[in-house]
Amino acid sequence: MKTSYDLVVIGGGPGGYEAAIRGAQLGMSVACIEKRVHKGEPALGGTCLNVGCIPSKALLDSSHRFEATKHELAEHGISTGEVSIDVAKMLERKDAIVKGLTGGVAGLLKGNGVDWLQGTGTLLDGKGETKKVQFAPIDGSDSSEISAKSVILAAGSVPIEIPVAKTDGEYIVDSTGALEFSEVPKRLGVIGAGVIGLELGSVWRRLGSEVVIYEAMPEFLAVADKDIAKEAGKLLKKQGLDIRVNTKVTNAEVVNGEVVVTTDVNGETKTDTFDKLIVCVGRRAYSEKLLADDCGIELTERGLVAVDDQCKTNLDNVYAIGDLVRGPMLAHKAMEEGMMAVERLHGEKAQVNYDAIISVIYTHPEIAWVGLTEEQAIAKGHEVKTGSFSLAANGRALAQGEGMGLVKVVADAKTDRLLGMHMVGVGAGDIVHQGMIALEFVSSIEDLQLMTFAHPTVSEAVHEAALSADGRAIHAIQRKKRK
Ligand code: FAD
Ligand code: NAI
Repeated sequence: MKTSYDLVVIGGGPGGYEAAIRGAQLGMSVACIEKRVHKGEPALGGTCLNVGCIPSKALLDSSHRFEATKHELAEHGISTGEVSIDVAKMLERKDAIVKGLTGGVAGLLKGNGVDWLQGTGTLLDGKGETKKVQFAPIDGSDSSEISAKSVILAAGSVPIEIPVAKTDGEYIVDSTGALEFSEVPKRLGVIGAGVIGLELGSVWRRLGSEVVIYEAMPEFLAVADKDIAKEAGKLLKKQGLDIRVNTKVTNAEVVNGEVVVTTDVNGETKTDTFDKLIVCVGRRAYSEKLLADDCGIELTERGLVAVDDQCKTNLDNVYAIGDLVRGPMLAHKAMEEGMMAVERLHGEKAQVNYDAIISVIYTHPEIAWVGLTEEQAIAKGHEVKTGSFSLAANGRALAQGEGMGLVKVVADAKTDRLLGMHMVGVGAGDIVHQGMIALEFVSSIEDLQLMTFAHPTVSEAVHEAALSADGRAIHAIQRKKRK
């Protein structure tokens, strides 16, 4: 086994494996240490590919097809007979997609000459010119010491646990357990109306569960623009998700094979009973066994690895990326940081634009945004103008039976510069990339107004939202003063 590399990456999730590949492309000798064993086999791809983005999207797709086939085809004149779901088959499909992708990453590392070391990596010493990393193989064989010119820490995150609802892997589960229910729970409780609660709550609701989602905060989806959160909340509740804000779970316990949840709402105690309960109240950085006590790395108060805007830690040639560091816990953010870190190590001036990181919640319809919300723009001192357009007036959305939701743009009223784009509606996760590109190119509302959008497309709603910012939308009655 080789014991010296230009670059050692600890963690083979989206951040780590992309960094490793980019390092190899730049001519470095690279090892990527990954300890994950998924369904009995060593696996690359991290949370994202194994138990996060990809399996959740596979289930979202299956459950959406089921619901659409069951409830939406009749109005097209299509009859199907009785529609049923084979949960085992659905999970098999998910697992096959995951396996294909994680195997693909292994192939990419191999093809690029990256050594995948299957086991646990621990930074022993990052202070000196030569970094020292301990490698403990998965198979239990002896640990060894590896030296490297540079190290990237990419160990990701794990679910936060709360003492009032301890997971048991069967009745009370985290997001990973919620991807594996062998049958549709009749009654499903969810703690946390965040991204996972809405996505996985939607999966099982579509398949027939009665879903209650408890949210401690007084507002639904406080991270999103207020108008978007309001519309999304309305649509999701209409679908049957029982979202209860301002509700504190004080206890959850399994009694005779059922989960009894006790809540406190403004001092009033209530109980509900479920077949399963998902706890999804956020994630925390995963630094166990990653850092030796005297390796020299500084952590933040919240236990994240402390880094600057370029993901450099307090130690030279040691970078940290992805869920392990500040910022949103998103796969695409981890990937871009991985590439930035390697390019910086190579002497280049790469920089992630943290003002243009897209957020997508893959409910149906999707909820997505990029840049500042109206509230954030005001708080930053902008004189704000906004424009919005309802998909109820968008021909393509209506033709698809998707005439719900809206697009909203937020801009600086003095300079006309676009500050943010927000959407709840069909294809929002893709459409909001137009906002990302516009932000990257410092576009104005006028730029968006002057472009020709194809008809009929849902994207026309972006054009109309930009026109509406100046009282000029065509397919809406505008109360604003026209420019
Ligand atoms: P990870 O993907 O967590 O990878 C880190 C890897 O490092 C892990 O595999 C771990 O085993 C390994 N590791 C840790 N410590 C060591 C060590 N000491 N030695 C060796 N290996 C180690 N994000 C999105 O952008 N879009 C989505 O749709 C989305 N959906 C999600 C759905 C769910 C249910 C969940 C849970 C998350 C989702 N996320 C999504 C978040 C996304 O998965 C993470 O932001 C992303 O995986 C972070 O990448 P990372 O490389 O930083 O860490
Ligand atoms: P989250 O931070 O999105 O949501 C957690 C929610 O739980 C918040 O609304 C919070 O107020 C609430 N909460 C916290 N403690 C609570 C308590 N005791 N009782 C009731 N509510 C409580 O976290 P989530 O959903 O666990 O997801 C973790 C991370 O994974 C996210 O931050 C996200 O970045 C990532 N992710 C991204 C996805 C995407 O991009 N589509 C999909 C799934 C996860």
